[in-house]
Amino acid sequence: QDLRIARIASAIRVIPNFPKPGIMFQDITTLLLDTKAFKDTIDLFVERYKDKAISVVAGIEARGFIFGPPIALAIGAKFVPMRKPNKLPGAVISEEYSLEYGTDKMEMHVGAVEAGERALVIDDLIATGGTLCAAIRLLERVGVEVVECACVIELPELKGRERLGNKPLFVLVNAA
Ligand code: PRP
Ligand code: MG
Repeated sequence: QDLRIARIASAIRVIPNFPKPGIMFQDITTLLLDTKAFKDTIDLFVERYKDKAISVVAGIEARGFIFGPPIALAIGAKFVPMRKPNKLPGAVISEEYSLEYGTDKMEMHVGAVEAGERALVIDDLIATGGTLCAAIRLLERVGVEVVECACVIELPELKGRERLGNKPLFVLVNAA
């Protein structure tokens, strides 16, 4: 387990000053190039969630779309994309959330999930937690139980975990 985590951590490339000065960008594209580390990433999530009666994996655009579908397939859950605004063609429900500058919207198709379903929310990274909170609100508004949120990377300094309140958060790697 620790060996797998160490390999995943070292496969994530950190790029300073992207997209702007002072930001240390956590680049998961190098993790995707390491076939063993990418598989271990998916396996660790699958091992944790396979017997938790999860019926829906909700993945957050864009990078949650990379990790969510293989987990959904492996645990026998459906995959629901949580998209940026005006991308989904059907009727949607949407939630605004705050960014560093201004706000953005997240959208989900009406009818993709049913009240009483059990969801896992997946993204690559939690920073301030605003993105995951919006996904949780969307799912809970339609009566879905969010069992847990899971990310590959947490930036603990930004205290996103606190913003999630009592909602459980599972991460593989802490970026100090
Ligand atoms: C990044 C990251 C998370 C979010 C975390 O996505 O992939 O989704 O920010 O930030 P937060 O915890 O402060 O809300 P971004 O919006 O940059 O877009 P992308 O995934 O489409 O590249
Ligand atoms: Mg993202």
